Amino acid sequence: MKKLKATAVAPSNIAFIKYWGKKDEILRLPENGSVSVSLSNLLTKTTVEFSSEYQTDKIIINKAEDKKEARRVINHLDRIRDLAHINEKSKVVSSNNFPASSGLASSASGFAALTLAATKATGLSLTEKELSVLARIGSGSACRSIPNGIVEWKEGKDSDTSYAFSIFPPHHWAIGIIVAIVKGEKKEVGSTDGMKLVNTSPFFKERLLNIEWKIKKIKQLIKEKNFPLFGELLEAEALELHAITLTTRPAIIYWQPGTIKVMKLVQKARSEGLLGYFTIDAGPHVYIICEKKNVSGLVKRLRGIEEVRNIIVNEPGEGARIVEEHLF
Ligand code: DP6
Repeated sequence: MKKLKATAVAPSNIAFIKYWGKKDEILRLPENGSVSVSLSNLLTKTTVEFSSEYQTDKIIINKAEDKKEARRVINHLDRIRDLAHINEKSKVVSSNNFPASSGLASSASGFAALTLAATKATGLSLTEKELSVLARIGSGSACRSIPNGIVEWKEGKDSDTSYAFSIFPPHHWAIGIIVAIVKGEKKEVGSTDGMKLVNTSPFFKERLLNIEWKIKKIKQLIKEKNFPLFGELLEAEALELHAITLTTRPAIIYWQPGTIKVMKLVQKARSEGLLGYFTIDAGPHVYIICEKKNVSGLVKRLRGIEEVRNIIVNEPGEGARIVEEHLF
């Protein structure tokens, strides 16, 4: 029998304008569009093999078998088996190039790599758009980890029109994305559950009124490479996301003491001429965006914060790609 095996690498991404809230939970159609950048140094590598020799699906993520994660992965494999008209069970081995305990174990890079590796293994040859649509159904933000560089996800009207595409190549802008991994408890509320609460925040409707304008504005500022205005909008957007999570019922506080220390550090550095702006997802870690020339100055300052466990420097990177070397 032909070997149904392939391996893919996919980047994590950080959103400049965030996805938070769904119009359709099953298809993961978002309430609004979003804009992100693929990260060069936060990668997931996944090998998928389908074979009649396997009796069940075996899913190994970062050397462990986690039942809850496995369910979500198997559901995704089922979609791909349906598309490819095959029944074979599979073995999936996936690992991140960043420490599993960092709390960055992003579903974005995971589902993007899984989508590409599994479709390739079955012999399907999908377009970038089709891959992005499929990755989105696994995890919304994963659709943005398929294309290269700076990416826009249009919310779309239905499943076929809700996908991400590259709006600027990785080399468009010489920016650094410094990830400050902050100490703290493992995050309590995952994104899927957190965003179910959006309509309980009195501010969510207000957010949707301005979001199209924000997306248009940020794209224009990226195009013009207007770093200070881009940064102001980026930071305001991150704080708005957290204003929503802080005001849902129940409220979700994603920040840890170290998160606030890093936010303050970034603002202080800025007032002293060292320009960087932060953004934060549904977790405690802080992503600092700066022009490349300021990376080392900001990293040096971050090293002075005891609650910062690890620092990972990225630049805008490539999207998901097939690689030759398998994990098993
Ligand atoms: C805060 O893509 O993880 O990172 O679609 O339910 O899997 P699901 O959610 P997910 O949510 C990401 C939310 C965010 C913002 C963003 O990446 O845009």
